[in-house]
Amino acid sequence: MKDALELILLRVSQSADIDKGELSIASRLIINSVCEGLAITRAGIWLYDETQSLIICKLLIDKGNDLDDESLKLSRKDFPHYFEALDTERSIAADDAHTHPATFEFTDVYLRPLSISSMLDVPIRHRGKMIGIICCEHQGAPRQWLGDEIVFAASLADLYGRAVSAKERADYEAQLLKANQTLEQNVQERTQELEITLSTLKTAQEKLVESEKMAALGNLVAGIAHEVNTPLGIALTSVSNCQEELKAINRDFESQSLTEQGFKDFTHVCAEGLHLAESSLSRAAQLIQDFKRTSADQTTMEVEEFDLDEYIPRICNPLKPMLRKENIELTLDITPHLRIETCPGIIAQLLTNLISNSQRHAFGDGVDNKQNTVNVECKRVETGIQLNVKDNGRGIPKDLQRKVFEPFFTTAREQGGTGLGLNILYNLVTQKLRGDVSLSSEVNKGTCISVLIPNYCVS
Ligand SMILES: Nc1ncnc2c1ncn2[C@@H]1O[C@H](COP(=O)(O)OP(=O)(O)OP(=O)(O)O)[C@@H](O)[C@H]1O
Ligand SMILES: [Mg+2]
Repeated sequence: MKDALELILLRVSQSADIDKGELSIASRLIINSVCEGLAITRAGIWLYDETQSLIICKLLIDKGNDLDDESLKLSRKDFPHYFEALDTERSIAADDAHTHPATFEFTDVYLRPLSISSMLDVPIRHRGKMIGIICCEHQGAPRQWLGDEIVFAASLADLYGRAVSAKERADYEAQLLKANQTLEQNVQERTQELEITLSTLKTAQEKLVESEKMAALGNLVAGIAHEVNTPLGIALTSVSNCQEELKAINRDFESQSLTEQGFKDFTHVCAEGLHLAESSLSRAAQLIQDFKRTSADQTTMEVEEFDLDEYIPRICNPLKPMLRKENIELTLDITPHLRIETCPGIIAQLLTNLISNSQRHAFGDGVDNKQNTVNVECKRVETGIQLNVKDNGRGIPKDLQRKVFEPFFTTAREQGGTGLGLNILYNLVTQKLRGDVSLSSEVNKGTCISVLIPNYCVS
């Protein structure tokens, strides 16, 4: 190829506008370069429409003037030979355009009026497909297109294809950027919404916890009030009864109608009344004492290192004769050499509490005539030491199983139960030992309460 053509090609291929996809600048550069290299005054870019039945002029430069007229269109119908030649996707080098089989159809309508004698059409390809042509038109005397010139024009058409690819890429990038921005904005909006929802939820949760706490406190107060009110009421009635008796005897004394028998009756009634008042007040005081114990802090917490396999029998064995009288067999199952560092007072309290619960609640009327048993098991597990107290009694119905740990829940109020036993146990284990309590029970099969004492020492 001639040096001059190579230089032009080099210049165009180095243009940043080609690779930036600046199509309109690139088009002008390419067409002006074609005109310069081929020494022609008229050239244009024509692209197929979607159906390839039309080619539409995208840019036409004539004697340096940019005609830029998209209304110029050629249709397959009007110029079938020309389109047939295009379909081969090869360059059309028509030295004599008036007679060339691909271009003769333009003679009257186009070539003659514009004094065009020779035409050179080179294909523009994009992604391997022909999308149009660069059309080079020579005016004046016919010329013969040289091989170098054809290659030169074809190379410029390839550069146009490169610009189209770059434009496509730039469009995709812009779309992607926009999509990213929209996405980011969406994420931001959603995050904000979520944050608001979360904070609303937190407030609602706090309110709920607060109202649960208030409800629990209310229940507790109602429970204490109910429990303590009964013995206080009895004490109050007894005392006021005694006061009435005192007034009556005073009256009799002053009116000198007090008989010996009357005085004896008075002392008898008063003694009974005061006794009832005293026992009721004791009961009330005991209840308050019990209630204070529900707070785990009230229990003495002296920590010692000791062997459970020695300590547990010391607590349990003395209970055996009493239980045997009620036809309950107490068995122990303790792993030997089970050393622990904890508060023995708590262990004793747990055991007596649970065994007395089995004795009081598990057996009695309506239970089969089988051997009643309570088994105390103590063993090492991965997370600490597990203490199980298990009976084969009547069990606890499913719907009550959660309630038994609540303060004042008892099914034995008439027998003097306060419903504080398991609540105290639960508080001691979870707060003092930092352990866990679980219950498994099946009606008519029995109940097992498991206490897990973690490996670390009590706080
Ligand atoms: N081993 C068991 N078998 C069947 N029911 C049980 C057993 N242990 C506890 N319960 C049920 O759980 C309830 C609550 O027990 P908890 O020890 O808290 O109170 P209580 O024994 O009724 O009264 P107290 O405060 O005197 O201990 C009992 O009233 C009983 O209904
Ligand atoms: Mg109890």
